[in-house]
Amino acid sequence: MNAAMTAHTLRTAFFKAPATLTATLLGAWLTLHGPAAHAQAAMPAAAPTSTATTTAPLDSSTFAAFGARAGLGELGTDFVARLQRDPRTAPFFEKTNAPELATKLADQFCQVLGGGCAYKGADMKTAHRDMDIRKQDFNALVEVLQQSMDARGIPFTAQNRLLAALAPMHRDSITVR
Ligand code: HEM
Repeated sequence: MNAAMTAHTLRTAFFKAPATLTATLLGAWLTLHGPAAHAQAAMPAAAPTSTATTTAPLDSSTFAAFGARAGLGELGTDFVARLQRDPRTAPFFEKTNAPELATKLADQFCQVLGGGCAYKGADMKTAHRDMDIRKQDFNALVEVLQQSMDARGIPFTAQNRLLAALAPMHRDSITVR
């Protein structure tokens, strides 16, 4: 099976998949193809680098589906609250300043969706250094993000576009291999 076909199959599955399955699929997809291949196959327009400072071309329908920067701010707040509640991710976020992280995530998501924001936080490698983040922690975080997007009624197509835009960063956030 070639990379493009697998990516297509998985993307099609995303449209109907529940959060848990989609997170698993994202993990499997990343394992199979690696972040660079994933970015190329799924999002030809997405920047191929793994830095968080890259600005994607404007995808106005996706950005609008998230409720623009204001909607992403609410998503960021809900996402961080869930991360602090979920037993799989809570230990990582015990000392986190929730409003600060929510703002950084909203700016970062806005930036990768081409919404014209400037993410001013640390690059992903520096931000996650020394955190002992494993692949299963990454999958848990993606699943929590999906729960948060589901709760806000974000359409699956828009969810998948954000996940695809974030996927290249997985290499820099997983620090234990
Ligand atoms: C694509 C995956 C990820 C993205 C896009 C992402 C994004 C971010 C951003 C934007 C920050 C803020 C950096 C700063 O303070 O300047 C951050 C911090 C952090 N991330 Fe991630 N992250 C990802 C994966 C993960 C994973 C898998 C974990 C652990 C399960 C994790 C745990 C943390 C923690 C603990 C912080 C510090 C929060 C604090 O200020 O206390 N991240 N991340």
